[in-house]
Amino acid sequence: MPTTTFDVFRYQPDLKDVAYREDFTLEHDDELTILDAILRLQNEQDGTLAVRYSCRSAICGSCACKSNGKTVLACMTQVEDAKAEVGGERIAVDPIGNFKPLKDLIVDMDPFWDKFKSVKPYLIPDGPAPEKERIVPKEAMQKIYNEAKCILCAACYSECNSLAADPEFVGPAAFAWGYRFAADERDGDRKKRAKLYSGDHGVWDCTRCMYCNERCPKGVDPRDAIEKLGGIAFQEGVTSDKGARHAQAFLISMRTQGKLNETLLVPYTDPIGAQLDVPFALRMMRHGKAPSPFHPKIKQHGEVKKLLANVKETI
Ligand code: SF4
Ligand code: FES
Repeated sequence: MPTTTFDVFRYQPDLKDVAYREDFTLEHDDELTILDAILRLQNEQDGTLAVRYSCRSAICGSCACKSNGKTVLACMTQVEDAKAEVGGERIAVDPIGNFKPLKDLIVDMDPFWDKFKSVKPYLIPDGPAPEKERIVPKEAMQKIYNEAKCILCAACYSECNSLAADPEFVGPAAFAWGYRFAADERDGDRKKRAKLYSGDHGVWDCTRCMYCNERCPKGVDPRDAIEKLGGIAFQEGVTSDKGARHAQAFLISMRTQGKLNETLLVPYTDPIGAQLDVPFALRMMRHGKAPSPFHPKIKQHGEVKKLLANVKETI
């Protein structure tokens, strides 16, 4: 029988002001999930060990925690697999990141729910209500199939680097839900949604670290949803954000020159701020650190234009 040591994050504010770590050792069958291990520790060794869970079947989304630094659903992760990933007989168990711990592995989810509500995660239909129901072709629902799989476990939120830098960033899960409704054919608030999801702490503030896609246990790919929301913002003409202008600068330079004109990026993204940087930019140019903005079109410009014309609509 395998034996595993669980190095568990403990925080018991009623008893101690500071968090600490505690080792628990368990002999167990080959097949045991991290959640079942924690529940056994709770039953057999320390009844005060606090964890949140419900379905034990990767459906309710309440048992997310960190196993050896990676966010997982505890009920869907085998202890032996987690050990094999890092080698050795220990597993560090921590609460999910970007949240305030309340007690041991339980965190304060309020900011997550507030942001979820802020994206209006419900259908806002246009026009008069139909007599019976709004029929949607199957293909139209395929567009939002991924996002509709979200179980709100917050694994993506836990791994999000943008949130670590800016706690007000709306976050990957909320934006996945935003896309789920913005791209729903029955929704009539697409432009308003595009505006709501732009601006400070909005879609353009995503750092594209891709950890949300990597750690989502349901294959929702929230970073892809954020990217598609950027596309919707373009389609709806919501392009005054610095982030949107930055993306536009890429497109313009590909269209006009066939390659990225890096020197255009800053003035196009932030025309006012860029004026303050002119002396710095000139110094960089003098030292050969910034390419000239006036470089000619590349020879294969025609090919690039054909590629751009072939880019399919993905939203
Ligand atoms: Fe969890 Fe994935 Fe939904 Fe994020 S997008 S809350 S990781 S199911
Ligand atoms: Fe419900 Fe793990 S207990 S997802």
